[in-house]
Order: sequence, then C-alpha cells, then structure tokens
Amino acid sequence: MASRTLPRALRLARVAAPRSVVAAALPRPALASAAAVPRVAMVTPARGIKTIDFAGTKETVYEREDWPREKLQEFFKNDTLALIGYGSQGHGQGLNLRDQGLNVIVGVRKDGASWKEAIQDGWVPGKNLFDVSTAIEKGTIVMNLLSDAAQSETWPQVKPLLTKGKTLYFSHGFSPVFKDLTKVDVPKDIDVILVAPKGSGRTVRTLFREGRGINSSIAVFQDVTGNAKEKAIAMGVAVGSGYLYETTFEKEVYSDLYGERGCLMGGIHGMFLAQYEVLRERGHSPSEAFNETVEEATQSLYPLIGGNGMDWMYAACSTTARRGAIDWSSRFKDNLKPLFNELYDSVRDGSETKRSLEYNSQKDYREKYEKEMEEIRELEIWRAGKAVRSLRPENQK
Ligand SMILES: NC(=O)c1ccc[n+]([C@@H]2O[C@H](COP(=O)([O-])OP(=O)(O)OC[C@H]3O[C@@H](n4cnc5c(N)ncnc54)[C@H](OP(=O)(O)O)[C@@H]3O)[C@@H](O)[C@H]2O)c1
Repeated sequence: MASRTLPRALRLARVAAPRSVVAAALPRPALASAAAVPRVAMVTPARGIKTIDFAGTKETVYEREDWPREKLQEFFKNDTLALIGYGSQGHGQGLNLRDQGLNVIVGVRKDGASWKEAIQDGWVPGKNLFDVSTAIEKGTIVMNLLSDAAQSETWPQVKPLLTKGKTLYFSHGFSPVFKDLTKVDVPKDIDVILVAPKGSGRTVRTLFREGRGINSSIAVFQDVTGNAKEKAIAMGVAVGSGYLYETTFEKEVYSDLYGERGCLMGGIHGMFLAQYEVLRERGHSPSEAFNETVEEATQSLYPLIGGNGMDWMYAACSTTARRGAIDWSSRFKDNLKPLFNELYDSVRDGSETKRSLEYNSQKDYREKYEKEMEEIRELEIWRAGKAVRSLRPENQK
C-alpha cells in the first residue's frame, strides 16, 4: 500500500489540497529519499513466517505464502466448515472459503434476510445451506459469525451442539472474553480459535478477489488438541487474509472496542463535529467549514499519512501549517488522553459490552439505529458534505 499510495497521494494533493500542500507535495529530494527508505526491517524471512521488527519490538507475522490452495485443501480435507450467520463477515469469509475449494456450509435462520442473501450468492438449501442447528451438527469447525448480540442470545441452543472434537471459531473475542455478561461459556473439551479480519466483510471479499488479502488477528482461547494455533493460521489464510498477527482474545476485543469508539469512528466523528461547529459559530460558510474539516482531511491529508506516515504528511505541507500542527498536536494529546483512558476502562470493565448487548438485543434495534443514522445524515455538516462531493469530477455527468 505504501509504495502504491504515493503517486495517488501526490495526485490528490494537486487536485484537492490547500495551496500549502500543493506547493510542498511536488517531488523533491528529501521526500523522494524518505520514500525510498524501508520503514519495516524484516529480520527472518522463512517461508511465509516472518519476524518483523515493529519499532523495536519483534513480532511473528504469518502470511498466506506458506498456505497455497492445495495445502489448505489437504489440511481441511476431513473438515466441514459450518459458517453460522451470513452478515458482512459471513458473506465475505464464506465466499472466499468456497472459492478456495473447501467444504463449507452456511447456517442461518430460515427465511430471514441472510437466508435470502445466501441463496442469491449461490448457496443451495439442503446442499450447503441449512438452518443454524443442522449446520452446527454437520460441521467440524463451527464459525460463529452471528452478530455479537445474537451469539449471546442463541448460546443456549448452540452450546449443546458443540460436541467433543469440534472446533469453535470466532471473528471477535467479545463473546467468550465477556462471558459473565454474554453467558458464552465455551465447552471445555473443544479447541476455540479466532480470526479477526481488520476490516469489513465486504473488504475481506474484495481484497481476496484482487489477489491481495486483508490483515487479520489470530488467537487461541483454548487448545485441547495441541493443534489449535496451526488451525487458526490455516483458517486465517483460508478466509482470505494476507498477513496474520498473533494476539490473545482479550487483547483483540479490548483494542477493537477501544479503537472503533476512538480514532476509527467515534472520536474522529466527535473531532469533525467540534471543529465544524466552531467554524460555523465564528461566521464561516458551510462549504468552507466542511472543506477545512472533512474534505481536505479525507481527500488530501489522510491518504498521505496512510501512504507514508505522519512525517510524510507534515513534509507535504507548508512551514506555517507544520509549525501550528506540531504545537497543537501535543495540546490535543494532553487533553484527549484522559478521555482515552476513560474509554479503555469502560471497555475493560465490560460497560461497553453491556451497553452493546442491551441495545442490540432489542427487537427494534434496527429501527432505532436507522433513526440515529437519519439524524446524522441530517446534520448540517453532512448535508454540506453531500453538496461538496457532488462537485467532484467523478460525480458530475
Ligand atoms: N462487520 C465487521 O466489520 C466485522 C469485522 C471484524 C469482525 N467482525 C465480527 O464478526 C462477527 C459477525 O459480524 P457481522 O458484522 O458479519 O455480523 P452481522 O452483519 O451483524 O450479522 C448478523 C447475522 O446474524 C444473524 N442473526 C442476528 N440475530 C440473530 C438471531 N437472533 N438468531 C439467529 N441469527 C441471527 C443475522 O441473520 P438474519 O439476516 O436472519 O437476521 C445475520 O446472518 C461478529 O463477531 C463481529 O464482531 C465483524
């Protein structure tokens, strides 16, 4: 991604960036040499398993090169992969497993939205599409890809079907880690593993079809056979991962809940709103407030960070922008860090899990969520954004 993003970033900078960025984004020796220096030192390349030095900490990373299709088919030749739930992850992981030539079946409640979607994707009732209980009975590796609230709700029916010899697979540590709240107490005599793709199920599918592969975390919660870790790695590759990073169920769920509430989604939305509102209250127009808050961030500056890091983005900006940003970043950090600590505590003590379970188990949670989305769509900032986006060349007829 790093090497590919650069030309696009520069192109974007020329089209959408403020004057300071355009001038500074033109290639010059300092930038060119920064891009040429590899940022990650590979310590031991060994057939698909690499020890990578991440800023001074060495970590093992597994990659799919070690698991060609034939090896996956041999590894899982006696297995039936029963994929339960066909939402975002079920769709992406299920289709990838099918394309890998593995024996995969889908289990969802009959005549729900997922049942219909599975049929549209070519799963055949009675052949490789079943109700949840039947699929679990037929499966040797049971992939629980129901929504997290549904995993808890259905556990009394699911647990008795997880008999000795089966493997239980999750894509989030949520249910077993917070078992006091979710009641998902896994049977003691089965392997329990995790492959958590770091992106939506749609991206899992798209990257697989592009021949790339998503980054995923892998973990073992319970290893009864002594083979659980290898199974997790093989499953990670089979569902479409490119690189697999080892973690624990606890660390996966804590970091995931924390990150999505923070910089990935909640925190960034809060920052956008706060900055936009102040600009509007100080007399700036909606278009100016939006461009200066969201459009320039997403179209020009964030891709530079994604491509080559924060210093690359700084280097692409004017000296005036750099000075102010460096000064203010430490003030933002100092002010925000207590809030991030509060958030981490709220994740760790189960408050976030409790809230999510209570909210998402309500019968009308979809309607309530849609109402909240409608409120967001109707905020001035996002209505202004719609108008700004409509002016992009690709959105003009
Ligand atoms: N989405 C992501 O970006 C993402 C990324 C990484 C990991 N994960 C993890 O992957 C897992 C699956 O997430 P997802 O986003 O794919 O889930 P989702 O889209 O919310 O999937 C919902 C699935 O659960 C089924 N379901 C809901 N309530 C049910 C009930 N009471 N009984 C039976 N089935 C029920 C739905 O079937 P109906 O259509 O019949 O309602 C649907 O098939 C979760 O553990 C999640 O944390 C998700």
